Order: sequence, then C-alpha cells, then structure tokens
Amino acid sequence: MTTAPMPEFPAGFRWGVSTSAYQIEGAVGADGRGPSIWDTFAHSPGRIADGSTGDVACDHYHRYREDVGLLAGLGVSAYRFSIAWPRVQPTGAGAATPAGLDFYERLVDELLGHGVDPVATLFHWDLPQALEDAGGWLNRDTAARFAEYADLVAARLGDRVKLWITLNEPFIHMSLGHGMGVHAPGRMLLFDAFPVAHHQLLGHGLAVSALRARSGSPVAIANNYSPVRVAGDTDADRAAGAAYDALHNRLFTDPLLGLGYPDGPGFDEGVVRAGDLDVIAAPLDVLGVNYYNPTGIRAAEPDSPLPFEIVPLEGYPRTAFDWPVAPDGLRDLLVDLRDRYGAALPPMQVTESGCAYDDVPDADGRVDDPDRIAYLDGHLHAVRAAIDEGVDVTGYFVWSLLDNWEWAEGFTKRFGLVHVDYATQRRTPKSSYAWLRDRVIKP
Ligand code: BGC
Ligand code: BGC
Repeated sequence: MTTAPMPEFPAGFRWGVSTSAYQIEGAVGADGRGPSIWDTFAHSPGRIADGSTGDVACDHYHRYREDVGLLAGLGVSAYRFSIAWPRVQPTGAGAATPAGLDFYERLVDELLGHGVDPVATLFHWDLPQALEDAGGWLNRDTAARFAEYADLVAARLGDRVKLWITLNEPFIHMSLGHGMGVHAPGRMLLFDAFPVAHHQLLGHGLAVSALRARSGSPVAIANNYSPVRVAGDTDADRAAGAAYDALHNRLFTDPLLGLGYPDGPGFDEGVVRAGDLDVIAAPLDVLGVNYYNPTGIRAAEPDSPLPFEIVPLEGYPRTAFDWPVAPDGLRDLLVDLRDRYGAALPPMQVTESGCAYDDVPDADGRVDDPDRIAYLDGHLHAVRAAIDEGVDVTGYFVWSLLDNWEWAEGFTKRFGLVHVDYATQRRTPKSSYAWLRDRVIKP
C-alpha cells in the first residue's frame, strides 16, 4: 500500500515499539517466577474470550534474541517492554530472585548491542498474587512494596535502561480490573475502586524517588487517554462529558502534575493522607501517552449507577476490536494536554498507538495489513500536526511489535507489526513492518 509522503519529524525523535511481559513472555514457571493476578484470572473459567492463558504466549522468554533481531531489522531506536514483578519478587516482597533479573539483564544487553534503547515499564498489570491476597492496590502497603521492587530493578539495571516508566495505564487497571471486573483481579467495585487510583499513584511517586536514587535515566508514567466526544447537546450531556473526562483523562494526570485530584466522586476519609499529593507530584521527565480512540458520552439514564453513558461513535472506520479509527483524536488529545497543563506538562512521548485487525497469512505466507498501514499513517500525521501546533512530542511507540495475548480477548486480537503463528511460534513481519521501516523510520 502506498501512502502520502510522511512529514519529517524533529531530529532525535524516538521511534519505538511496545510490548508487555504477560502478553508475550510465557515461561510462567521458569526460574522461580511467582504467580501474578493475571495467571489466576486467565486460569479462571469464563474470563478469557477464547479460554486461553498467557502460559506460553509468544514464548518471548526463550525467543527474545529473535525478537530483538526483529526490532533491529525494523530500525527502531527504542523498545518499550515491561518487567514482570513476580519474576523479580515472586511474592512481591523480600530479596530479588537473581534469575528473574538475569533475564531482563540479558534482554537489555541484547538491545544495547543492537543500538536499541531499553525503555522499561515496571508495572503492566501483573501484580504478584501474594500481594493481591493481602488486598492488592486496595491496600496502601502495596505502594511501599512497589517502591521496594523499583529499587531492586534499578539497582541491577539503572545504568542501562534509558527511560523508566513506572506504571502502565493506572486508569485501565483501576476501571477494568477493579471497577468492572473484566480484567484481573476481576473486582467489580465501581466507584469503590478509587483507592486503587490513589495507591497506584502513591506507589508511582515513591518509585520515582527510588529510581532517581539508583539511576540517572529519565522517569515517566504511561497513561491511557481518550478525548471525549459529547453526543447530544443538552447541559446534562455536557456535564456527563466533563464527568467522564475527569475520570478518564484527569484523575491521574492532575495530581501527577501538581494540581491535586479533580472534583467528582471523592475518596473515603483516610485514603489520601497528608503529604501524599507531594509524593505523587514528584517531577516527571516525560509523560507517556497511550492513545487508541475517543469516547462518545451522553447523559446517563436516571437509574444508572454512573454519571455518564458511553455511546458508540458513528462515522469512523473500525478496527477488529470495533474501536473507531480516529487519528484526529490523537492530535486533539496532544493539543488539549498542552493547553490544559501548560508549563506543568513535561515533553510527551506516545508510548502506545496501534490497532487490531484479523491478519491472516496468504498462500505464500505473506501477511498484508493495509488497514494497519493506513492507521499508523493517519496517527503519525496527527502527531506531526500537534508538533506543528507547538506541542512538545519527542517519541512514538507502536503497540505492538508482535501479535500477542490480548488480555480478556486472549489470542483473538492481533496488534502486531509481526504476525505470530501460535502453534509454531513462527514470526512473520507484516507489510506494515516494512512500511514503517522504509517510509517512516529510515526513509
Ligand atoms: C482473528 C480471529 C482469527 C485469528 C487466527 C485473529 O486476528 O480475530 O478471528 O481466528 O486471528 O488467525
Ligand atoms: C494496554 C496494552 C493492550 C492495548 C490494546 C493498552 O491499554 O496497555 O497492554 O494490549 O491497550 O488493548
């Protein structure tokens, strides 16, 4: 597929791809790894669309050299992966398991050997099960445990990881994992899940100090954002839009950038303690922005437990996930973040952007994915448009390098630039991989 010429990006712009541990590693029993909440959840009947688990996933734990070869072939300057907390501390507390850290050390050294910057996320949702048994992120102590784990990782890798990302999408972990129960740990607390927001943020702030004490590398967090499209023109619709925006887009970012929590459904007494907001507002070097789609919102029915109703957005092409393809939303989001936070906002990197399509190898074994090329092309033009409006965006990471285990959707959603045949673990770069390499990264 041919696309219009890609505009130039600023010198030093970081091109990368992202993955996460439980979605690709497999080897869940190797080298002393403990169980995480996702092992438990995936093995519970009825939780995962195709009944699969991440037990094997892409077997990346054993095939990381081949996967780093794919990264090198793509020409990216950075690779965002996540470290599985239960490989480092099988029960989420105590001394590190050296063999667990050895894996990430081998990975990091392999990346550096190929000129690829390691970008490490410390928490991409795979909490050690033992911590969940003690209350998980509903328990304030988990924040302290997270900082201890960050210290152990940074003590080993602090000299080589080029960018730290503390948490991945604390909003999704709170809402889907603890509010709605569709992700691990499967709690359905609705707004009683709010302590999970505060304790993750507190853990983030404590981890920032731990990382800075051990490593000179910049520190970020990766938030999920979704610009709100109000469907309807009543005051109630607009109020619902603002309520959703506060929950999805501001609940985490306002306190991170020193503004405290937005108004809205609040915290019970004793959750937010004196000094916490200062810990949470520790300066960030980069704000990671994960973007997939905007959200349509209108006023809720009177008997709804929620102060808004989510409605499908019409008029957009859709991915295999049925998500609207809306590059304009990424441009709007980046501009809005700049306008909303001004000087408090650090430079941004798009730490996830991508799409699922039903990619199938043809008779010759080739995987042609023109929809993904169109998706990436549109979203890169959107980033460039934001930069043209003066927004400081310094990197873009595609989700994902490989087709992988897509949480509650199991293996049914393929997000990769590289196709994976799960029966054989054969990797086949899709046409989007060649497009990204030849038209964007090394034109
Ligand atoms: C599709 C599934 C298909 C699978 C196997 C996925 O991307 O969503 O429908 O069975 O690929 O290739
Ligand atoms: C997550 C990824 C996930 C992707 C696609 C993001 O919310 O960080 O782990 O695979 O979205 O759903």
